[in-house]
Amino acid sequence: MSDVLTFTREFVRSPWTTASPLPTSGAACDVALAPLPARGDPVVLELGAGAGATSAIVQHRLAGRGRHLAVEVNPRLAAVLAQRFPAVEVVCAEAVVALADLATRETRVDLVFSTLPLSLAEDRGFVAAAAALLTPGGALTQVQHSWARLLPWARAAEQALHEVFEEVVVSRTVWRNAPPATVTIARRPRR
Ligand SMILES: C[S@@+](CC[C@H](N)C(=O)[O-])C[C@H]1O[C@@H](n2cnc3c(N)ncnc32)[C@H](O)[C@@H]1O
Repeated sequence: MSDVLTFTREFVRSPWTTASPLPTSGAACDVALAPLPARGDPVVLELGAGAGATSAIVQHRLAGRGRHLAVEVNPRLAAVLAQRFPAVEVVCAEAVVALADLATRETRVDLVFSTLPLSLAEDRGFVAAAAALLTPGGALTQVQHSWARLLPWARAAEQALHEVFEEVVVSRTVWRNAPPATVTIARRPRR
């Protein structure tokens, strides 16, 4: 089964958790991966990796450099990821649990790339846990469907990001995403 079909089937099974009927586009990933250093061995932490549409693009960008961790709560999708990408460290867990575990291991991350449902990002504790893993020059990027920015928890999520980070920038609408999306890029956690 193609990855798009795998992903869409999971959306039908669990629309609230899966959060999108279609995988994120390459165009939205280009914006979300802009903070990824072009040299060296960066560590990327992907949150909500799905069937791997976004992981494939991260892998392409890393081209064997650094480290790529991918967190996915759905065990069927996590299994697809592990099979497709042997070089990716797949963690099948709730993002909150995975962040706490990475903190205990003192893992440092250059880019947290999240395509999680936005409702998670309204929790300041969740955003702070992700921010605490970042290296000084690191960034957190969150892809969200543009229409979802009208929902009340989108405003709460943006508020949480502003509380935790000094710089929060929302991209222009990426029209080549279905549905159109924006990417929020947050840098410089308030320590
Ligand atoms: C919008 S999809 C993104 C999938 C893929 N990264 C993409 O962009 O096409 C969100 C993904 O987050 C996962 N997810 C939802 N809640 C989660 C949680 N609490 N912890 C970890 N993953 C979660 C879903 O199972 C789903 O695969």
